[in-house]
Amino acid sequence: MIRDERIPSDELQRIDEEIRSNWPTGADVDFEEAIEYHESLPEHKRFADVLESADKPLLQPRAGVPRLDDQIELLEYLHQEGQADLLPTTIDSYTRDNEYEKAQQGLEKARETGDDTLNGFPAVNHGVEGCRKLIDAIDAPIEVRHGTPDARLLAAITFAGGFQSFEGGPISYNIPYTKRHGLEETIKRWQFVDRLAGAYTERGIRINREPFGPLTGTLVPPSIAIAIMLVEGKLAATQGVRSLTLGYGQVGNVVQDVAALNALKKLGNEYLPDEVVVTTVFHEWMGGFPPDEARANGVISLGGMTAAIAQPDKVITKSPQEFQGVPTKEANASGLRTTRQVIDMAIEQKIDIDGIAEEQDLIERETRCLMDTIFEHGDGDVVQGTLKAFDSGALDVPFAPSDSAKGAVLPARDDDGRVRIFEWADLAMDDDIKEIHKARLSQRATTEGRDQSFRMVADDVDAISDGKLIGRPQGDV
Ligand code: 5AD
Repeated sequence: MIRDERIPSDELQRIDEEIRSNWPTGADVDFEEAIEYHESLPEHKRFADVLESADKPLLQPRAGVPRLDDQIELLEYLHQEGQADLLPTTIDSYTRDNEYEKAQQGLEKARETGDDTLNGFPAVNHGVEGCRKLIDAIDAPIEVRHGTPDARLLAAITFAGGFQSFEGGPISYNIPYTKRHGLEETIKRWQFVDRLAGAYTERGIRINREPFGPLTGTLVPPSIAIAIMLVEGKLAATQGVRSLTLGYGQVGNVVQDVAALNALKKLGNEYLPDEVVVTTVFHEWMGGFPPDEARANGVISLGGMTAAIAQPDKVITKSPQEFQGVPTKEANASGLRTTRQVIDMAIEQKIDIDGIAEEQDLIERETRCLMDTIFEHGDGDVVQGTLKAFDSGALDVPFAPSDSAKGAVLPARDDDGRVRIFEWADLAMDDDIKEIHKARLSQRATTEGRDQSFRMVADDVDAISDGKLIGRPQGDV
């Protein structure tokens, strides 16, 4: 039975050898030599140190193209023209599906034609040497950002390749991303990834790990996201990770977003072991964007404003071309600069908004309910608790495509746009908390002169791309 226990070192070695045989570049990974390479990197490329010592939110975009030279040029541009503090390398979809052969074909085609035939950087195919050329060329820390349920080989190669930060986790890169992988399987896979990060950490090379907070990116109630961040943080800590960045995706109500980021930081420090350094990352709006770039810049600016008030350690920026998919480098850099402008103008202002403390208290109480139910389901073991709580529906994620979550919980915005829970299904929550949500949602129903229904949920999902926060009936109110 899989439990929240550290993988023994002989088992770590066995899995490591097995997964490195999955693709030829796996053979080039040499742990001892990789430690030496990391030790040779200058201080300003050490991801955890740079992030943890910053005195204001650091900005990071997403970016990945197939060819190495193009990736270097792209990251240099985002560093220079976008003034990004931290850089990403976004991995292509074939690699995320462990389809290295298809990634190879795409990479070769990209080299022949010069076109971006993949939607990201196939790091496994570039191998340790290719990764290090990128790390050497760029004068800032770089994180691997992806969406891979089984990221074991990707981690082995990119860690040896010099990357010191790695996004994802067993729940956050499963439940929102895939139908194919069971939760027990992904927990097992990610225990290896975290254990490998822990092995580097033990040798003085702290690999920063970043669970993916936005989950499905669609009206996720803050307490659900935070509980999953705490679980993934705990699992990583068990395997030896000591630098953890917990994530949260903007919901668009400023009070709720600031309260959620405060709660995330507080509960992260409370629930994770003392030896772990906890930082937070705020994702600018992950839901549908307006097609109009001017309006998209408005969405981005509200994210910047929220970040200036809540002061997370890091902000993942969006571009005004979000609607159309992968942005041009110019649009990507402009999203960074827009965010920077708003944060720099607002960060020194003392902005007090009514209701943040109260909302934070509610989010904390909700999160504690979810954490209690996880511990109870697992008799104290977080892995078993997570599996059983998802199974029973006591823990759930709205709009999840995975078979491992019921996806039966439905959120809707209340009368001032905070995300509440409209359909609880089997989610574990105290009755008095459910009453608060119910009262808030019924207030909105009254304002709009309509019943609470699934229509409201659907209207809210589309609202921001239609230019509003709350999906009110057209022409009314
Ligand atoms: N470059 C830049 N952004 C990317 N995204 C996905 N792949 C890339 C890439 N290669 C972004 C999408 C969306 C988010 C989920 O990731 O545009 O904003």
